[in-house]
Amino acid sequence: NVKACIFDLDGVIVDTAVYHFKSWKRLADELGINFTLHDNERLKGVSRMRSLEIVLEIGHQTKTEAEKQELATRKNEWYTEMISKMKPDEVLPGAREFLQQVKNAGIKTALGSASKNAGTILEKTGLIPFFDAIVDGNHVATAKPDPEVFLKGAEALKIEPANCVVFEDAIAGVEAALAGGMKVIGIGSGEILNKADLVVSGLDKMNIDKLNSL
Ligand code: G6P
Ligand code: MG
Repeated sequence: NVKACIFDLDGVIVDTAVYHFKSWKRLADELGINFTLHDNERLKGVSRMRSLEIVLEIGHQTKTEAEKQELATRKNEWYTEMISKMKPDEVLPGAREFLQQVKNAGIKTALGSASKNAGTILEKTGLIPFFDAIVDGNHVATAKPDPEVFLKGAEALKIEPANCVVFEDAIAGVEAALAGGMKVIGIGSGEILNKADLVVSGLDKMNIDKLNSL
């Protein structure tokens, strides 16, 4: 029986993937690296530093630790500038409604995001009241595909991993949920998220019956 839902943020509840892409693209352009939307799939769910390393790998460039810190900070400044203007209407279709249905069904909710900016995004979009626990990039030492972020979410809710369902749009996130012994619903394309227990195109396609059918 499903007792808790743990939600990834970027690409599941809000479409910040677009802002991440724009700011990585701007950085890549400055570095003379050709970075495409296809490459961007590899950055989903992955930490800021690891994302930068992937961008540098694509461009066959190496940087010192200090340079990497500076580049990641520059990207984050552009990104935070964009998210500071986010509005409640930028919540993805069906997300707020599904969160409400989950709450009404007496199922607990947690956020499980790699982002260190998750708090700002939830605040700007008015979503804080929908979560019983919030675990984000500021609370974890190991990034997805390690299950730490989801296990911490389950622990905060006091629910066994086996009774948790994770919602994820990233391959690394699907792997993290499975590694944590949880069920996982992929948000996006079934071709990319083929390890998930179920894939839907968005939370607008979810309901409590589908959740309990897992
Ligand atoms: C999410 C996104 C990633 C992003 C990561 C870190 O998982 O899917 O694309 O790199 O968060 O975000 P941050 O806001 O801390 O840079
Ligand atoms: Mg995501």
